Amino acid sequence: MSRRIVPASDNRLMSPSSPIIVLDSGLGGLTVVGALRKVLPGEDIVYFGDTARLPYGSKTAATVTGFVQQIIAYLRPHDPKHVVIACNTATALSLPAVRAAFPGLTISGVIEPGAKAATAAAGTKQVPTIAILATEATIRSKAYERAVHRRRLHARMLLRPAPLLVPIIEEGRGPADPLVKLALQQYLEPLLKHHMDVLVLGCTHYPVYKELISKIVGKAVRVIDSGEQCADDVARRLKAAGLLNGPPASDAQAGDAPVPTGGLRCFVTDDPVRFQRLAPRFLGVEIDKPEWVAPDELYGPAPTGGVRLSVPA
Ligand code: DGL
Repeated sequence: MSRRIVPASDNRLMSPSSPIIVLDSGLGGLTVVGALRKVLPGEDIVYFGDTARLPYGSKTAATVTGFVQQIIAYLRPHDPKHVVIACNTATALSLPAVRAAFPGLTISGVIEPGAKAATAAAGTKQVPTIAILATEATIRSKAYERAVHRRRLHARMLLRPAPLLVPIIEEGRGPADPLVKLALQQYLEPLLKHHMDVLVLGCTHYPVYKELISKIVGKAVRVIDSGEQCADDVARRLKAAGLLNGPPASDAQAGDAPVPTGGLRCFVTDDPVRFQRLAPRFLGVEIDKPEWVAPDELYGPAPTGGVRLSVPA
């Protein structure tokens, strides 16, 4: 494989063997990692789950932007060839500011790919109804409305915040849990009263309930999660930059899903054991124990007399 070296504007070097960074507030971004590994099985991925500060979906743009900048600054020494903000909330609230803060990195999010998939799924209907289920902050930002209307001026949008879902999912409750069913019914019923053509799972945590959600909304509604589209988008960007580490799966031999040859290294800001236990629900496979990042490593030591924390057991 050719080793084309691309100088970043801050003089660091990146090459096809550099990793892709994927970040989220918690476990949800692993659904995007799963999609990336299907399309780009040769890529090394460094994942960051900011589990200590989750949920992002109830926080302000200033707070979330600060969190994302700290994470990227912390992982910057890995010399990533691309950064994926695999969190709808963080994409909606921080993407332009984070791109401006790191001009030497290419950074993409999940909202544009999600909106692209939604408008494609709406087909040729003149005024399709596209519903968005997301965190409060994502809905408030109007990022999906803008991204959909840029592509389809005449789409009717239904917007539904679902603030309880992320904590329920991070707690490890599976789709068979009665509380999950109740919460989903509460959030989806108001949408079902209107006729929707497409339902976008506008949070990377929600695909773990995709089957149940599809069952509740019925066959006539196309349910979209942006992970796949996001992975295709990253593959396109890397190909254009000459930074692919091996061919994308679609260019390789057709057949079953490829076995990833790239590595996956995870960092978390809260309990690594818990993250490791729950990760297979999002990724479909076991992961190695993540590395714990102490708060003062991420945002500097406490001003005076700070207590150095030890790694949780
Ligand atoms: N996975 C994040 C998203 O896509 C969850 C946000 C949260 O932490 O509330 O929006």
